[in-house]
Amino acid sequence: MKAIMNEQRKKRLRNDALSCRIMDAEEAAKLICDGMVVGVSGFTPSGYPKAVPMAVAESAMKKKPEERPKLTLYTGASTGSELDGAWAKADIVKRRFPYQTNDALRERINRGEIAYADMHLSLFAQYVNFGYMPKIDVAIVEALAITEDGGIVPTSGLGNTPAFVRNADKVIVEINLLKPLSMEGMADIYAPTNPPSREPIPILRPNDRIGLPYIACGPEKIAAVVFTEMQDDSRLLSKPGEKELAISRHIIRFLEGEVEAKRMDRNLLPLQSGVGNVANAIFSGLADSDFDGLTCYTEVVQDSMLDLLRSGKVIMASTTAISPSPEMLPRFEAEMNFFRDKIILRPQEISNNPETARRLGVIAMNTAIEADIYGNVNSTHIMGSRIMNGIGGSGDFARNAALTIFCTLSTAKDGKISSIVPMVSHVDHTEHDVMVLVTEQGYADLRGLSPRERASCIIENCAHPAYREKLFDYFRRAAESTGGQTPHLLDEALSWHSRYMRTGSMLPA
Ligand code: COA
Repeated sequence: MKAIMNEQRKKRLRNDALSCRIMDAEEAAKLICDGMVVGVSGFTPSGYPKAVPMAVAESAMKKKPEERPKLTLYTGASTGSELDGAWAKADIVKRRFPYQTNDALRERINRGEIAYADMHLSLFAQYVNFGYMPKIDVAIVEALAITEDGGIVPTSGLGNTPAFVRNADKVIVEINLLKPLSMEGMADIYAPTNPPSREPIPILRPNDRIGLPYIACGPEKIAAVVFTEMQDDSRLLSKPGEKELAISRHIIRFLEGEVEAKRMDRNLLPLQSGVGNVANAIFSGLADSDFDGLTCYTEVVQDSMLDLLRSGKVIMASTTAISPSPEMLPRFEAEMNFFRDKIILRPQEISNNPETARRLGVIAMNTAIEADIYGNVNSTHIMGSRIMNGIGGSGDFARNAALTIFCTLSTAKDGKISSIVPMVSHVDHTEHDVMVLVTEQGYADLRGLSPRERASCIIENCAHPAYREKLFDYFRRAAESTGGQTPHLLDEALSWHSRYMRTGSMLPA
């Protein structure tokens, strides 16, 4: 058994000189000290380091709160409970960038205990490269293998790993023996050159490979190698509900209209979609559509996309992470030889790059918390103040796509909140970036409409019937009394939110 293990380890650690840096997670965790900036691999609970972060948290928990290290944590996007959750609960995160979805972390951010800046995901690597952010002391990176010359072969969530490795003083590599070596070859690592005169990113089609299958690092920078066998803390996806399926049907109906109008072919344009149940439902709806030969230029591949690739409906997907649910994972790994040349894993500054999104003409489909009658979208804040997750990649794509679609359920909290409101309580995507708004009620095609036309279109097609007349009433009164290009009654614009905060419902008593 031990001999087989050693054989496995040799296949993964191909630089012999690095065998003297093999250690356990507890030993490697000692390299992380108070005040450090730590950058980690991974994106949307996939491909992040687990054993060393857990050891850091466990060691901190043995100390008094005031003696625990305070760390700045850079990631690609969200990570799992072993990192974001464990570090938040151990109270060792001082600053956190650029995206998160963890409950414990969110609580502390909203209490003002952790400084969190939620940022466009395509931009963060550039912030690090340009020195806008404090320099990285240690990068902790999950890998399939380390090559002969110290290159790091990433696992399923690439995120910002190349930029973090490049900018870190030291790198700790967790070689995860549970991730199949047959995944090697999926990654395509390319780093944009610096301005001025930045070279164009040479991607003309979603399936263009432009870089290397590993991250150049060099053995001298690798301070520790830790062998692990841990699965990602991926989430179970619930079966799409009737409302999510209705959103999916409306989007498909809208896209069929685009094909009928000859604005695109039956293979559409490259698709991008956010994460979660609505996104998963949109893609599962595509399985029964007449579209064919589809491609994706997106940031996360979830279960329904893997099914579409398997069925041949989607012929390839460019992404920065693959995040199968626990149910899908064994099938995905068993069929790696099928998927390997159909999925390209890119660094997130490339998967989400505005230049390539605009060049390829992506169809961007993202989710809103709320939208207003003029089409401004809030994707991040509950009632204007409390952060939910972050803007993620939605802004990268929304501003630069050929078609920008936002969807949301028309109500939240059992109908007590209307997700279509007079004025959003926080703006992530302005009216200028939103072309189509979709709820389970229908879709509003806002292209070429003035703000007043948008208001009627959104209320008519997207608002829940319980709120429709009240929204029309607001709009009419605003248009009659204040007038202007975008009529508002400023004293009243956010009164729906304050009524909910006071009474627990946006509906008048
Ligand atoms: N007002 C107040 N709360 C609202 C609301 C509204 N209009 N709409 C939803 N909510 C609440 C829900 O009740 C739920 O609360 P709970 O956690 O207490 O149950 C929470 O917000 C999440 O809503 P849910 O319907 O479960 O949404 P989701 O899982 O589909 O996520 C977003 C929706 C917007 C939070 C999520 O898509 C996101 O973070 N988007 C931004 C990032 C992004 O777009 N990424 C894509 C590229 S990375």
